[in-house]
Amino acid sequence: MKGVILAGGKGTRLYPLTKVTNKHLLPVGREPMIYNPIKQLILCGIKDILIITSKEHIEDLIRLLGSGKQFQCNFHFKVQENTLGIANALSLAESFAEGEPIVVILGDNIMTYSIKKYVEDFKKQEKGAKVLLKEVKNPERYGVAVIDKLKVIQIEEKPINPKSNFAVIGVYMYDNQVFDIIRNITPSKRGEYEITSVNNIYIENGQLTYDILEGEWMDAGTFESLKYANDMLFKSNNEIQY
Ligand code: G1P
Repeated sequence: MKGVILAGGKGTRLYPLTKVTNKHLLPVGREPMIYNPIKQLILCGIKDILIITSKEHIEDLIRLLGSGKQFQCNFHFKVQENTLGIANALSLAESFAEGEPIVVILGDNIMTYSIKKYVEDFKKQEKGAKVLLKEVKNPERYGVAVIDKLKVIQIEEKPINPKSNFAVIGVYMYDNQVFDIIRNITPSKRGEYEITSVNNIYIENGQLTYDILEGEWMDAGTFESLKYANDMLFKSNNEIQY
């Protein structure tokens, strides 16, 4: 099993903080934001981690993280030339994955509890994907799970009228079918290859499982959520519980 962290994007919702700096390098607690997803993957026993980012910031990330020696893992880096959505960025991980299952974390998703138990459950799954849900007060900001009789029957990306309060967080576990699926999706109305479209195909194929995330979660992509994530990690001393 390998890990992928998506750390691209322009971070426009955080301007001017992200005018010259990559969002994932901003401080959250006492560490740069990207340390949190890295620590999550390492706690899952994942040794090979691919970091996908823009060409403007790849050098900064390499300077910060190096080979991975400090974290006892191997970092791999890849440039994302365009910003055509999360699924498009993930497609760059195909050769890195070498057919193995992957855990993908969006670099601005901050969590205080380990995701290891969910990853262990996914490993027992013969095939397919797994997503993690968290109940939130503002589901319209996220991918939202439509749940019927304990099953996720659909995921809606940023719906105006959300059918539940369960956000699909930015942690995705996929088998090697994911890259074929990405090749077959079409862009959404906002012109992006959505990760939600990928997850909906797994649902159609009856191959998507889910779990409810324990502990705190925040997508630190806006000023308010960055402040929240900052407070959260100051409190936990940037440690992940497991
Ligand atoms: C992305 C995904 C969304 C997900 C969210 C989690 O949205 O598209 O489905 O719920 O990440 O952080 P973004 O925050 O990139 O707009």
